[in-house]
Parts: sequence; C-alpha cells; structure tokens
Amino acid sequence: MKTVIDFKNSKQQGKKISMVTCYDFWSAKIIDESEIDAVLVGDSVAMVMHGFETTINAEIEMMCYHIAAVKRGLKDKLLIADLPFLAHKKGTKYLMEAIDKLMKAGAQAIKIEGADDNIELIQYIVRTGIPVMGHLGLTPQSVHQLGGYKLQGKNDKASNKLLDDAQKLEQAGCFSIVLEMLPFELSKKITEELSIPTIGIGAGPFTNGQILVLQDMLGLSKDFQPKFLRKYLNGYELILNSLNKFNDDVKNQIYPDLNESYL
Ligand code: KIV
Ligand code: NA
Repeated sequence: MKTVIDFKNSKQQGKKISMVTCYDFWSAKIIDESEIDAVLVGDSVAMVMHGFETTINAEIEMMCYHIAAVKRGLKDKLLIADLPFLAHKKGTKYLMEAIDKLMKAGAQAIKIEGADDNIELIQYIVRTGIPVMGHLGLTPQSVHQLGGYKLQGKNDKASNKLLDDAQKLEQAGCFSIVLEMLPFELSKKITEELSIPTIGIGAGPFTNGQILVLQDMLGLSKDFQPKFLRKYLNGYELILNSLNKFNDDVKNQIYPDLNESYL
C-alpha cells in the first residue's frame, strides 16, 4: 500500500488493513519486505525507544530523526507520522512548520489526536494538501486528563461523543481514524457509520484494520501484557537467551572457532 487512496479503496473493497509502528532503519527494511500495509512512526517512540513514561516527551526533532531513518529503509509502504504533543496548540505558524519538518523528513501523512478544537485545523491542513489521520478513544497525549491508559467510551454520553467526533473528523477530510481502547461494539458502530477506514488498537475485530506497536507484537516488552495484545514472537526471551549464549561462548572459548577466524 503506497498512498492514502489505497487506504480508502481497501475499505470499499472490504480488505482489512494491517499496520505496525516503526522507529528505525533496520526494522523498516524488514517491514518493507513483509506484507504489512502501512507504517506509523508513532510518538510512542518517546516511550519505546527513549524510555520516557509518556508520549508527552516526543519532540518534532525526535520525530523527524526517526522518520528519516525509517524512510531510508521503507521503499514501498505508506509512512504516516504522529504530530507530537502540543504541536497543534501553539498557533498555525508553529503547526505548519512542524508539519513541514515531518513531511520533509519523509512522512506522507500526519496523525493528530482528538477532535474538538482540532476539526478546523484538520480542515485547513487537508485543504493544504496534507493527508490527515484522526485518532480517537484513548489518546495518550491526554493521559493525565484521562487518568491513565484505560478503556474509553464506556457510557452512552462518552460513546455518543466518540461517534460524533468520528463523523466530524471524516467531514473535516481525514482519510482514516485510529480507534484506541474502545468497547468492540462501539468501534463496530463507528466503523459502520463512516466511509473512511478505521484502524483499531484494543478496539476489537470489527474495525477496518489493526495497528500494533512493533516491539509489543514481537514480545520485546517483558511485562507489558494488556488484554488486547497478541505477541507473535517471544522476542524478549529469544534475545535474552542469545545474549547469554554469546556470553557463555566467549567465556568458555567456544566463540570464535578457527572457521570464524582469518589465516
Ligand atoms: O504512537 C503510537 O504508537 C500510536 C499507535 C499505537 C496508534 O499512536
Ligand atoms: Na501516537
């Protein structure tokens, strides 16, 4: 999948969309050769790659550094990048400079969390010619207001607001919307009401696509096991065992042997 047009077409053709996050060159090269449809350089980079507690610490410079690395390894997939914390709350000039940097680093589309005050901004950005992906439900940049990383849209009022926000985002011109941590019946309803594709994470099986953080689906985060997460590799243990094996081989003079040495 190379463009946002492919994205929209997938929904019309009833084809599911697969996405993972990516922050670096070497994993971009592997993803590029896989059948995964598209890649997000998420602001989760601040947590996964830099060890911060929240995504609040993702900066434009940090995003661009990682987008550029991913871009060098990604020849054949749509690359979407997160607009980091408050970049759309510091005036239009700041916002457009931030988007300028993200796009020049290699992003083909920008993801923005939330609706409300963003609707007009998103309209403006889309009219400028930049594809925008929405993001509703658990929006991690608002973690301190939400009181933690928890399920959203649990009562009628909250779920009606989410459906309304999703429709506003579609009207504003978003080409797709991420739905994070919602009851599956709500994300199903939103998906049915919209003509643009929904991409779920912790939002059940009825969205038009799914996204997972690469390191999470590879099982690299040892203690992170939310209900929604399926680990496709026991990455943590495999890497730990390899490191210990190398250590043993060095200390027991098993590595290198003469076949691995030069005359
Ligand atoms: O930053 C991120 O990784 C995300 C996805 C989980 C949707 O926003
Ligand atoms: Na994000």
